[in-house]
Amino acid sequence: MQIIDGKGTAATIRAELKAQVAAITALGTRAPGLAVILVGEDPASQVYVRNKVRACAEVGIHSLHYELPASISQQELLDLLAALNSRDDVDGILLQMPLPKGLDGNACLAAIDPAKDVDGFHPINVGRLSQGLPCFVSCTPAGVIELLRRYNLSPAGKKAVVVGRSNIVGKPLAMLLARNDAFGNATVTVCHSATPDLAAECREADFLFLAMGKPEFITADYVKKGAVVIDVGINRTEEGLRGDADFDAVCQKVAAITPVPGGVGPMTIAMLMKNTVQSWQTRLPKA
Ligand code: GUN
Repeated sequence: MQIIDGKGTAATIRAELKAQVAAITALGTRAPGLAVILVGEDPASQVYVRNKVRACAEVGIHSLHYELPASISQQELLDLLAALNSRDDVDGILLQMPLPKGLDGNACLAAIDPAKDVDGFHPINVGRLSQGLPCFVSCTPAGVIELLRRYNLSPAGKKAVVVGRSNIVGKPLAMLLARNDAFGNATVTVCHSATPDLAAECREADFLFLAMGKPEFITADYVKKGAVVIDVGINRTEEGLRGDADFDAVCQKVAAITPVPGGVGPMTIAMLMKNTVQSWQTRLPKA
């Protein structure tokens, strides 16, 4: 049984990006720039944003950190996004979700320049992903595929089950798994709260992706022997951070599994850094 080390893999990716950025900035070009916007005081979002800003510093990305009150108006937020869209030194714009009540998250995401949408949430990028065109891919699903790639665990020709259908994880992950790619080409089933027999569906999975947000819900009964289990759940419990899988029970049965914490979580931020560096390289004036 293999425990998939997302924490270590993410550190390797950050080091690779740091070297890439240093090699280019040594020639005298400006550093990559990422605007990180947090609205309100959601504690989980505060942690995510702090980690994103810290990762930027490590990689050599200049971060512009905005902490705005929950009382900000929709128009003020749209004005900030428009200003960031037009700044040449800003390569990526990240608006931490969810927004406080009263603000329209989808309208704000649609106001971000798709070329700076390093989160891959703009309808243009989502649409391009569904058409198999180059685009920014949402960081958590991109991180899941990158982990599979680096561990050489290909779902091609296998049955993949995704539990959860969110815009941020389940839906884009299902699209990536089904696309014609060495680490796609899976036969994909998407399960959700209206799936009649979730356990039966999960037991069919050679690759099981958990993104439901229910701590330790998936027991050994849900898992086929020898499966690869990728746990995207991040659930804060009284005992600490837990995934959607009952790790101690499930790990007895599988070929490979991601832990929580230290699995997919750190990969999300590594992929945000990767998307930002990619945007920067695309946007730098050509010599
Ligand atoms: N909220 C939960 N995950 C994410 C993410 O990857 N990006 C943003 N912007 N908000 C989130």
